[in-house]
Amino acid sequence: MADRTDIYTIIAHLIKNAAESIEKNAALNAREIRIETVLNDSAISVLSKDSGMVQKQAAIAVLVKDTGTGIPTEQWESIFEQYLSGGTTAQRHRMSLSILRKIIRYYYGDISVVSSSPDLGTEFQVIIPCRQVQA
Ligand SMILES: Nc1ncnc2c1ncn2[C@@H]1O[C@H](COP(=O)(O)OP(=O)(O)OP(=O)(O)O)[C@@H](O)[C@H]1O
Ligand SMILES: [Mg+2]
Repeated sequence: MADRTDIYTIIAHLIKNAAESIEKNAALNAREIRIETVLNDSAISVLSKDSGMVQKQAAIAVLVKDTGTGIPTEQWESIFEQYLSGGTTAQRHRMSLSILRKIIRYYYGDISVVSSSPDLGTEFQVIIPCRQVQA
């Protein structure tokens, strides 16, 4: 299970980025950050060491959408890469999307840009595994 504080950190970082992006996008009248959570009972496939079978596990998808500047398609992956050289020690150790992705993957989840354009803004999706929900 993902630690509660880590989940707060992840969502807060995405909201901060969204707010900064909206501030830069003077062209759009809409200034909106929308957060959606969706429970999917079989979002994650996990290979069981015991049985050798793939098991489906429940996960929460958190969608963070903004009406900011958008991110060019060719940067959808590179924004998660870590830049080790340059900057002060504090800057190299600051929270960033690359650290966020490491934290989320530690919990067997994932983060990605699912859509982005200058007209509509950006949508990030975070998948966080949770305990299997018994119906
Ligand atoms: N919602 C967003 N809309 C547009 N661009 C974004 C958004 N989120 C992230 N980005 C882009 O990804 C880059 C990396 O984001 P990250 O949060 O890792 O660092 P940063 O925002 O540049 O610095 P810091 O978070 O320390 O202020 C940003 O500089 C920005 O170009
Ligand atoms: Mg940021």
